[in-house]
Amino acid sequence: MKKADIGLIGLAVMGENLVMNMESKGFTVAVYNRTVAKVDAFIAGRAAGKNIIGTHSLAELAENLEKPRKVMMMVKAGDAVDAMIEQLLPYLEEGDIIIDGGNSHFPDTIRRTAYVESKGLLYIGTGVSGGEEGALKGPSMMPGGSPAAWPFVKPIFQAICAHVEDGSACCDWVGENGAGHFVKMVHNGIEYGDMQLICEAYQLMRDLLGMTPDEMHEVFAEWNKGELDSYLVEITRDILAYKDEDGKPIVDKILDTAGQKGTGKWTGIAALDEGVPLTLIGESVFARCLSAMKDERVAASKVFTKKAPNFTGDKKAFIEDIRKALYASKIISYAQGYTLMRAAAKTYGWNLNYGGIALMWRGGCIIRSVFLGKIKEAFDANPALSNLLLDPYFQGVIETLTDSWRNVVAEAVKNGIPTPAFAAALSYFDGYTCEFLPANLLQAQRDYFGAHTYERLDHARGEFFHTNWTGHGGNTSASTYVV
Ligand code: 2AM
Repeated sequence: MKKADIGLIGLAVMGENLVMNMESKGFTVAVYNRTVAKVDAFIAGRAAGKNIIGTHSLAELAENLEKPRKVMMMVKAGDAVDAMIEQLLPYLEEGDIIIDGGNSHFPDTIRRTAYVESKGLLYIGTGVSGGEEGALKGPSMMPGGSPAAWPFVKPIFQAICAHVEDGSACCDWVGENGAGHFVKMVHNGIEYGDMQLICEAYQLMRDLLGMTPDEMHEVFAEWNKGELDSYLVEITRDILAYKDEDGKPIVDKILDTAGQKGTGKWTGIAALDEGVPLTLIGESVFARCLSAMKDERVAASKVFTKKAPNFTGDKKAFIEDIRKALYASKIISYAQGYTLMRAAAKTYGWNLNYGGIALMWRGGCIIRSVFLGKIKEAFDANPALSNLLLDPYFQGVIETLTDSWRNVVAEAVKNGIPTPAFAAALSYFDGYTCEFLPANLLQAQRDYFGAHTYERLDHARGEFFHTNWTGHGGNTSASTYVV
């Protein structure tokens, strides 16, 4: 019997669908699952009559693979991945490739790549985005790890991934060790941001403009035809039109407490580690945390009664303002996300292809959008672009959006409607484009209480000064001594 092109371990939803996808593209796949009854059920069910080989042990799995063996793990992120690597190693040999397609944290992937390479094998940690449907029909894939493994895995990954209109694959080599999982993590953070922005637009329409879900459905349907054309705007359109059994909009009946699995949090932590202002994603994570405090919010809403929102302007014009505020904030979110990737690339020695990353996100994944095509163009034109805002196209776009953006944030503030992501994005924009921030005063404060020293506008950078602010603090600074 023909040996399999690839082995897959972990027949949960994502694993099963990836296997079906691979088989449909002409690959033979050998499968294994810890609970082996699932293998038999799969082989007797969806996999029946297909080029899928069921195996009942890792030894059997290894025997059924073409060399160099490629084994893809789709098991629970965390300890299970380490345990599986340990169990696999005795059955593999030099040059074989272990692939982790789960949502692993990138430091784990950095560590595992080094470990597996130390055993003479190759390792890939790949982001896979697009959920169940993506896994079956074409996910966005973000592989990183041992560069030598890529030529062996590329034909399979680029066959099963999503493709954009011109046929380009939404999967390419991201970089060494944890680069693929890092980029997937940032993707998820951006997903948090995109979702929060849509939710803020929704709350403004609902609470300030008093619109019904059907009316908002029309707005999102319209928005999806233009610059905001994206998967998340599209599903929001459909969600708002969806009626419960009693014919009423189901969205009004859903409890307003958001869940999270932690990838947004990881992105925020990575940004703090790198010293990159990732404010919009940070606010989006915190907005979910705040939403989860439902009981406290209900109690506090009774303590501080607010005036009912009162909008007196032109409703139609304000809806267009909201669209523009959403678009501007989204540009900021991606600008911040890309800044984080650039900083991490420097820290971890990755040579990231920023235009290529936009292409990987262009199709298959949750944040897929027309807008990513423009980001690809920006980074292809200037791979060294330090901030997306400085790209001539986006600079021009932002300039057409700022009046509306300010108007939306101002109206929200005046009417007591929380818009943490819109407002954080605008504050970042105003800070990033501000020549003189008040950090001169901040440095003075630090020097006052801690003798931390400061640099001066009228001296060269790198010269540090300390002032004896109180007359009795002495002239000794914390890090340098200035006579
Ligand atoms: P199971 O069916 O035997 O539970 C998602 O949970 C997938 O990861 C499932 O296929 C599950 O196998 C697998 N999985 C979870 N923990 C595992 C572990 N420690 N070892 C092997 N597979 C594991």
